[in-house]
Amino acid sequence: EKPLITVIGSLNMDMVTTAKTMPREGETIHGESFKMVPGGKGANQAIAAARLGGHVQFIGMVGDDPFGHHLIKVLKNEGIKRNEVKIVPNTSTGVATILLSENNNRIIVTEGANGYVTKAYLEKLKERILESTIVLIQFEIPLEAIYYTLEICTQNNIQVVINPAPAKQLPTSMWKKATFITPNETELKELFTARAREHLGEKLIVTKGENGVVFKSHGEDIHIPSYPVEVVDTTGAGDTFNGAFVVALTEGKSIKDSVNFANAAAALSIKKFGAQGGVPNRIKLDEFLNRLRP
Ligand code: RIB
Ligand code: NA
Repeated sequence: EKPLITVIGSLNMDMVTTAKTMPREGETIHGESFKMVPGGKGANQAIAAARLGGHVQFIGMVGDDPFGHHLIKVLKNEGIKRNEVKIVPNTSTGVATILLSENNNRIIVTEGANGYVTKAYLEKLKERILESTIVLIQFEIPLEAIYYTLEICTQNNIQVVINPAPAKQLPTSMWKKATFITPNETELKELFTARAREHLGEKLIVTKGENGVVFKSHGEDIHIPSYPVEVVDTTGAGDTFNGAFVVALTEGKSIKDSVNFANAAAALSIKKFGAQGGVPNRIKLDEFLNRLRP
């Protein structure tokens, strides 16, 4: 059987308003279009992993509103059959308000039902989590769920990848339990001092958008360039990176090759609108990589 990738995380409905520029404080400007698309860092990463051929289990929460039912359907349509998504009564589904302008976005996330992904909920799913080869988590769910996941996974030799987005601080003892931590540059600056970076060493995989990815290997700085593509929407590029990265790891690829695979997936994802819109399937990604091979 294929290794199981478990994603524990958020589901949001993304409300995306596109405009030529960003409004300044106190300013009202005209928008160009409005679209509602599925999102949430957890769901985006799970969908990326599934499209790229991973065997994925998803754990999360939605509210008892039309958005929640729709987001559950989206996961099913993506072939994520092992999903443990509960509907929380009297609660709204997570929503992200996204302002999108040329090569820039700003997001406000309202957690809603995602706030109910608690330790108590995960305790009930412990056996299912422990079937995983690797677990992928982000910070759009309560920290107690992150702590619990790190604890049970390290006790059972299950790898954990933390995408620390949006940035929240963890005690050093918790960061150290992760197999890999994948901050972008902003999150890196906010969360890790020079000393902490030194301390975490090879665990840190830093994504720098068009400037590629940087990590340490045998004490050396490794830089893997990103693939230049025409940018339509960078929303969710980091999510595609993370989903793809864990798929590559479960296939036994080296860290370097996994990062390269994930960079290519992220590049393709930004050529289309929406966090999940441009995420390639495996055939598309393999074609892209083969075309570039000398
Ligand atoms: O990473 C992109 C995601 O962040 C969006 O889909 C939005 O839901 C926010 O959570
Ligand atoms: Na996209």
